[in-house]
Amino acid sequence: MRSARLWSLAAAVLAVGASSPAPTKTKRWDQGFVTIENGQFIRNGEPFTFVGTNAYWLPSLNSEVDINKTIHNIAAAGIKVIRTWAFNGGHLSPFCSLAFLIWSLCPICARTSADVDTIPTNGTWFQLIQNGTTLINNGTNGLQKLDKVVQLAEEAGVLLILSLTNNWNPLPLIDNTTIVPVDGSSLARRDVTLGTNNTLPRNTLSNDFGGMDAYVRGFSQNKQHDEFYLNNTIVDIFKNYTTEIVSRYVNSPAVLSWELANDPRCNSSIAASPVCNTTTVTNWHATVAAHVASIDPNHLVSSGVHGFACADCSKSFPIAPKPSVSAAPGRRSKRSVKPFTNERLLAEVKEKRKKTREIKKREMLSKGDGLRIRGRWIASRQADPSVSSSVGAAFDGSSGVDSQDILNIPTIGFGAFQLFPDQNNYAVPGESDPNLPAFNNTVEEGVAWIQLQAQLAQQVGKPTVLTAFGLVSNDNAPFFVPFNTTIAPFNNTVPLNSTASLRRRDSATTSFGVSNAEEDDAYTQWVTAAATSGISGALQYQANGLTENDSSTVDQNNDESSTVPNSPNTGSSPNDGYQSAPTGSDGVASVLTSLTSLFS
Ligand SMILES: *[C@@H]1O[C@H](CO)[C@@H](O)[C@H](O)[C@H]1NC(C)=O
Ligand SMILES: *[C@@H]1O[C@H](CO)[C@@H](O)[C@H](O)[C@H]1NC(C)=O
Ligand SMILES: *[C@@H]1O[C@H](CO)[C@@H](O)[C@H](O)[C@H]1NC(C)=O
Ligand SMILES: *[C@@H]1O[C@H](CO)[C@@H](O)[C@H](O)[C@H]1NC(C)=O
Ligand SMILES: *[C@@H]1O[C@H](CO)[C@@H](O)[C@H](O)[C@H]1NC(C)=O
Ligand SMILES: *[C@@H]1O[C@H](CO)[C@@H](O)[C@H](O)[C@H]1NC(C)=O
Ligand SMILES: *[C@@H]1O[C@H](CO)[C@@H](O)[C@H](O)[C@H]1NC(C)=O
Ligand SMILES: *[C@@H]1O[C@H](CO)[C@@H](O)[C@H](O)[C@H]1NC(C)=O
Ligand SMILES: *[C@@H]1O[C@H](CO)[C@@H](O)[C@H](O)[C@H]1NC(C)=O
Ligand SMILES: *[C@@H]1O[C@H](CO)[C@@H](O)[C@H](O)[C@H]1NC(C)=O
Ligand SMILES: *[C@@H]1O[C@H](CO)[C@@H](O)[C@H](O)[C@H]1NC(C)=O
Ligand SMILES: *[C@@H]1O[C@H](CO)[C@@H](O)[C@H](O)[C@H]1NC(C)=O
Repeated sequence: MRSARLWSLAAAVLAVGASSPAPTKTKRWDQGFVTIENGQFIRNGEPFTFVGTNAYWLPSLNSEVDINKTIHNIAAAGIKVIRTWAFNGGHLSPFCSLAFLIWSLCPICARTSADVDTIPTNGTWFQLIQNGTTLINNGTNGLQKLDKVVQLAEEAGVLLILSLTNNWNPLPLIDNTTIVPVDGSSLARRDVTLGTNNTLPRNTLSNDFGGMDAYVRGFSQNKQHDEFYLNNTIVDIFKNYTTEIVSRYVNSPAVLSWELANDPRCNSSIAASPVCNTTTVTNWHATVAAHVASIDPNHLVSSGVHGFACADCSKSFPIAPKPSVSAAPGRRSKRSVKPFTNERLLAEVKEKRKKTREIKKREMLSKGDGLRIRGRWIASRQADPSVSSSVGAAFDGSSGVDSQDILNIPTIGFGAFQLFPDQNNYAVPGESDPNLPAFNNTVEEGVAWIQLQAQLAQQVGKPTVLTAFGLVSNDNAPFFVPFNTTIAPFNNTVPLNSTASLRRRDSATTSFGVSNAEEDDAYTQWVTAAATSGISGALQYQANGLTENDSSTVDQNNDESSTVPNSPNTGSSPNDGYQSAPTGSDGVASVLTSLTSLFS
């Protein structure tokens, strides 16, 4: 049996151990694998840093030609790493699972399933999660698609971060939602234009590939998100999936890492139990990371967390205190990294606010504008809440994520964090400066977030990677679908050349999203901050350069007559609000290309 073979391989690998050097003189990078030395990635013997991108839909493209062209388009922009989904599953009705084996006789199942209404007839799918069993699809519309992605990435010299599941998998008509499509049909889903029948093709949204909640729906008792982390049967089922995928590409030099999950947390589209906490999520990572490392001795394992950190949470993997004094004779002690504490976070915010206040004051005084400004200044100062002792949701453990603890798991090779200010708040209360425009606060808080992540990683001597970042532009706002839902919060039936205020669903007066120039500016400042603070790579979300000449089920836009960037078949990605918008002639792609030189 395949699994028996794998388990004996696993045992052999365990004997070597994931973190100790192999007992031969051959370095793993000699064989084409990326390794880590002194807190840096090493590829072909050289330190490796990179600008990257996300293309979660890559294995869902219809043809090898499309996949190849897309990878080459991305590589041509100077991008070296692509992060994509190595999962694509669903949950069919019981009737359909029995009928599955005689699928050609049962086309109706495609339409009666609650989740994967298009998987069996066309489109990519890897795993069927069904009423107590799972079924891997290793056919041409299954894992052979992923095989192609890996093989073509190898040919193009591009590396892949392969994510094994997703925190987010909402189903609007099944999950706790009051939104029902106008036709009332259980078949209508991904109703991204509320009140219309405007459904998107399967796999258009990143959260439409199955994920943790697909397992929870399929296997759990109480239908709570954290059963995915805690129920040993479900953990085993997931481990079995990782065994299938990971063992397939053990020898591929195109794999940079196995990412255990995208954005794992306690909260999700299905609520977690009240006892879910950082220990729950950390321990799950330790278990699954050890499993993946036991199957694959060649590749790194990474976490895929958002980066929330919690100084005061109890640690499963406490950081051993560094011997504080005298370095060995003749050696300089390493530059010390200040420990991460709540006191330090709060003190730094206070310091930053003080600095910006002084800069502002000087600016205003030099303009001879003192008096009027001074009045405003005092008002804002009184409102300054930086005396708060709360560190905020990004740092108090409330998400169930302590990336510091996860990063210190021995089998986790490098750190990961994300940056999506439209969907998360990274500020310590009081950090946002009321004297600055919202955009400036967003950019600065992103920079501070990036710098903090660099320090957290330095503390444990591992590299870290910004695995996804994005900011919703005004043009993209009508297409924006947050990761926890399939419903666009803004009206996307309004023509895109209307003013921003008309495009917003919930208010006639407020616009949403930044300008394209601001998007470019933010990306430039963030990637620059990443490069200069010692982050090893920064991956924009999400890729331009999609080619779909063969009418892939992954579509660029639900409305191709729209003016949203690029015409069909020439390089747009599916738009979930983060499609690369062009400014000037080539936009985000050229911004990224220009930044690749920061990473040498
Ligand atoms: C992929 O595209 C590149 C660049 O166009 C080409 O050189 C290569 O032959 C293609 N590979 C396959 C397998 O089609
Ligand atoms: C895929 O299946 C859907 C419905 O099941 C159908 O509408 C669509 O035309 C099919 N697409 C292709 C490319 O076959
Ligand atoms: C599937 O599960 C349901 C309960 O969740 C059970 O009633 C049914 O018998 C199961 N079907 C199969 C084929 O095991
Ligand atoms: C798919 O998996 C089945 C069951 O493990 C195996 O018999 C078959 O050879 C596989 N097919 C391919 C194309 O890998
Ligand atoms: C479902 O929604 C109702 C009403 O909005 C709420 O009271 C309930 O707690 C929700 N349940 C879950 C499991 O989220
Ligand atoms: C949605 O589709 C159903 C069935 O195709 C149709 O009866 C209904 O009128 C449609 N609703 C809208 C708003 O287009
Ligand atoms: C764990 O999941 C299995 C499989 O669905 C189920 O039979 C079992 O009752 C669950 N265990 C708990 C403690 O919920
Ligand atoms: C996982 O795979 C092993 C080996 O094939 C099998 O014995 C076991 O039942 C599977 N576990 C689950 C929970 O499906
Ligand atoms: C935190 O989670 C762990 C592991 O799931 C659990 O054992 C513990 O009871 C939880 N702690 C609290 C305070 O709920
Ligand atoms: C999704 O997350 C946003 C925050 O980004 C929150 O405001 C919203 O209520 C969440 N929606 C659902 C359906 O959970
Ligand atoms: C806000 O950001 C913009 C763009 O980076 C910059 O030009 C401007 O000077 C900033 N404003 C303040 C008050 O810092
Ligand atoms: C969306 O915009 C269209 C066109 O302006 C308008 O008719 C419709 O009422 C709007 N829908 C919502 C839910 O705001």
